[in-house]
Amino acid sequence: MTVQFKQDAAEAAVDSITNGMVIGLGHGSTAIFAIRKIAQLLKTGTLEDIIGIPCSLQTKQQATELGIPLTTLEDHPNIDITIDGADEIDFKMNMIKGGGGALLREKIVAQASKKCIYIADETKYSEYLGEKWAVPVEVMHFGWRATAGFIESLGAKVVVRQTSDGSNFHTDQNNLIMDCNFGVMKSPEAIADALKSRAGIVEHGLFVGIADEIIIAGNQGLRIINR
Ligand code: A5P
Repeated sequence: MTVQFKQDAAEAAVDSITNGMVIGLGHGSTAIFAIRKIAQLLKTGTLEDIIGIPCSLQTKQQATELGIPLTTLEDHPNIDITIDGADEIDFKMNMIKGGGGALLREKIVAQASKKCIYIADETKYSEYLGEKWAVPVEVMHFGWRATAGFIESLGAKVVVRQTSDGSNFHTDQNNLIMDCNFGVMKSPEAIADALKSRAGIVEHGLFVGIADEIIIAGNQGLRIINR
């Protein structure tokens, strides 16, 4: 069912796209349903003159294979709508992102967008962030132990993300990801500000005040939350 819910949320988000738009294309197993739907609508001519900006190298490859015309933020610095997934969503529309390691490009694309729509199945919803997920933090290699120590001093348990073969995971920018478990976060803004204050932290996966619309699909159908 979860997979069907991801598809339901994704396809509902695609309804907001109109001809001629520049679209931010998210990363992950939910966003791919939106990307597939956009490709299908372009093929049938239901949508025309759409150009996409992918949030990751993986998304770029997927969108290319599906025949979606792509551009860059350099050529199109103003995005109309971005559609992306999320790892955890709270009642204030704050989110944790970065489960797929693409949080930096996802945040750059989101902040360049007029409207950001996030899509998820109902398992992603929590009253407070941190109930289910650690916060992914993208960190430079240089000085990474000192950076990890700083994050621990903020109260987190820090794990350097690894791939299935036991080597360190690297982002599209060749940085590390530290999964930082702060427990339940009643004030994610304060943690976001603290993380941003430290050199060596490139970006964090707390998306506070970024979502304009969230579509959650579940047993009861679609729940659409607007800011
Ligand atoms: C990628 O870095 C993430 O922010 C994804 O958007 C998030 O992990 C959601 O992924 P799924 O849709 O695969 O759950």
